Amino acid sequence: MSVLTAWQFLITQGHDVVNPLQPEQHVPVPLHGRTVLVNGAAGGVGHLALQLVKWRGARVIAVASGVREAMLRDLGADAFVDYSRAAPEDEIRDVDLVVDAVGGAKSPRFLRTLKPGGALFPIFGLGYEDNGEAARLGITVSTTQVRSSGAQLAEIAPLLNDGTLRVAIDSVYPLADASRAHERAAKGHLAGKILLKVT
Ligand SMILES: NC(=O)c1ccc[n+]([C@@H]2O[C@H](COP(=O)([O-])OP(=O)(O)OC[C@H]3O[C@@H](n4cnc5c(N)ncnc54)[C@H](OP(=O)(O)O)[C@@H]3O)[C@@H](O)[C@H]2O)c1
Repeated sequence: MSVLTAWQFLITQGHDVVNPLQPEQHVPVPLHGRTVLVNGAAGGVGHLALQLVKWRGARVIAVASGVREAMLRDLGADAFVDYSRAAPEDEIRDVDLVVDAVGGAKSPRFLRTLKPGGALFPIFGLGYEDNGEAARLGITVSTTQVRSSGAQLAEIAPLLNDGTLRVAIDSVYPLADASRAHERAAKGHLAGKILLKVT
């Protein structure tokens, strides 16, 4: 679902089911030649979003904790901000798109990092309070809820096969230890995905 989330936000939504998070359908924006900031870039959705925007020809600024810099540069980040050292919304200006894979109530802080005409996509759309600032700045704020899609997974599979998209593995647990995997997830600060081993 992480890769489908990134795909449906960034490439094509691929369905016309009513968006439960906003009245209008989410529409991806052009990426080629644009500058995109990905917040929460080390997480399950974030590290795949980063790679999709690189694949589509954008320059990417990754925001994560400092320990993730090498991983994210290896995945294609052109620039990196360690949010524990500097607030990205104060450091970065004039980006075309912010993909906020942390999202929530703090997402509006990224409005000031965007160009007029830019877009902010909070992946976790709940808690975003629109006080009219986005409209004043000419910025589109849009979110959506992922839907399963075999057709989109079939489009994505070749990108995984040829290494265009790489899935970072945070940790591996036997299926019988799935409760430990949940404990790991609850601690947060994931680097990619947790894998459950069936055999
Ligand atoms: N709209 C949808 O359909 C949809 C679908 C899937 C997920 N989501 C939502 O999207 C969010 C991300 O999901 P996920 O599966 O990618 O989560 P995740 O794997 O837990 O990743 C979250 C990442 O955020 C980083 N992070 C935490 N605090 C941060 C901060 N202040 N600034 C920057 N990075 C920070 C964490 O690592 P570091 O702190 O070490 O950098 C972690 O890598 C969740 O809220 C989830 O509920 C929405």
